Amino acid sequence: MFTEVMRWWLRCVSILGIFPLITNCFQTQYNGDQILQLIPADSNHVEFLKQLAEEGQVDLWRPQSSEGIYPGVEVDVRIPASAVGEVRSELKKRALQHKVLAENIQDLLDGQFRSNNKLPRSIRGHSYTKYHPMAEIYSWMEQIKENYKHLVSKHLLGSTYQNRPMYYLKISRQSDKPKKIIWMDCGIHAREWIAPAFCQWFVKEVLETYTADPKTDRFFENIDFYVLPVLNIDGYIYSWTKERLWRKSMSPCFNTTCFGTDLNRNFDAQWCSIGASRNCCSNIYCGSAPESEPETRAVADFLRRHRSDILCFLTIHSYSQLILTPYGYTNSTVSNHEEMMRVGRKAATALMQVHGTKYKVGPSSWILYYSSGSSRDWAADLGFKFSYTFELRDNGTYKFLLPEDQIQPCCEETMAAVTTIIEHTHEKHFQNSTPGVVALWLYVLSSCLLNVYFINLS
Ligand code: ARG
Ligand code: ZN
Repeated sequence: MFTEVMRWWLRCVSILGIFPLITNCFQTQYNGDQILQLIPADSNHVEFLKQLAEEGQVDLWRPQSSEGIYPGVEVDVRIPASAVGEVRSELKKRALQHKVLAENIQDLLDGQFRSNNKLPRSIRGHSYTKYHPMAEIYSWMEQIKENYKHLVSKHLLGSTYQNRPMYYLKISRQSDKPKKIIWMDCGIHAREWIAPAFCQWFVKEVLETYTADPKTDRFFENIDFYVLPVLNIDGYIYSWTKERLWRKSMSPCFNTTCFGTDLNRNFDAQWCSIGASRNCCSNIYCGSAPESEPETRAVADFLRRHRSDILCFLTIHSYSQLILTPYGYTNSTVSNHEEMMRVGRKAATALMQVHGTKYKVGPSSWILYYSSGSSRDWAADLGFKFSYTFELRDNGTYKFLLPEDQIQPCCEETMAAVTTIIEHTHEKHFQNSTPGVVALWLYVLSSCLLNVYFINLS
């Protein structure tokens, strides 16, 4: 107890030192909590694990719900410190194979601000290699808009449950031609901090790098980029101030102290049929109805309104290193599945060439788990031909607590993948549909022929 108090005290005292620790003294502590990877061998093991999960003795990290536990398939769980002793001795007794992935989650938490960047943040301007609390992301959006007035505008998409404004950035070059849209949202799940970090990186790269290379600069003739840096703002703030591992939104539920909807189970895509829960205490609670949450509704309304203009829908998560295609709610696939796979694999190859990181590509129901009500599946059903979920780094070492020194490499490689996808959709849509170019060639050709004809005559 005494050491607990000391720790708390030290955290709060360090308010004067490093900014990220400011919030730590209010936060849930994970001292002594462990992450275990288990492999149930038979149905007895499976039943035992389901029971542990349902009684709340362990927090299931993979699969997302106990329906997904099968013999021979790895299961990742967080065990609260108070249950570690008992659970581990039960595992031994039942000869349930397991290994410890993290001895103490608090150490991982403390490691997430491990960064190469030693300069104080005030003299650096906005750092793209750090995690930012929401207030800083709001001011970054404002700054970007001011610094790139000719290219960037900031728009209100809607409001969160706690009444915070949801802004998106539109990056667009003046043009008389009708343009298509690339949509990207990040941070639908609160604890996946690398996702908003990538959205910020993406905006910077579109503004700085895309414009510098003629090949990518061409995108701006035909494409506008719409970026929603943090979709689940309330949850994101809660993950900074209260519970680092919070996933859901913040809306209350009827008749329970549990709260929060999994916004990526709240879309109207076979809503709450599989890999989702009607229990509000679950991490995959689907909400009271499709689009019951203001965040979901805002995104869905916007996309419906721009339905015919969206070239590609990208939604960014972590972790697992996957490029997911539809569907999560069924193991059947979309009509252009083969094309989506081809482009996805090409993106994964481009990604690997940057830092050697391996990604898998495929439908969520095949390579991750079943899930209904996801935005990716909903977007595919709305008719978007390209709808991908990115599950960014890592592969399971740090999980949701990716250290800051991986932000840069992770964003660099992801950028290569995303650019590959954008390039494909851009080329596919605009290459053959440039009447100007075709007309010009016809003109050149016919005048040559006429010339030859008249020269022969004379
Ligand atoms: N971002 C994922 C989700 O939407 C979680 C991925 C975690 N990976 C895992 N194997 N549990 O649910
Ligand atoms: Zn997620």
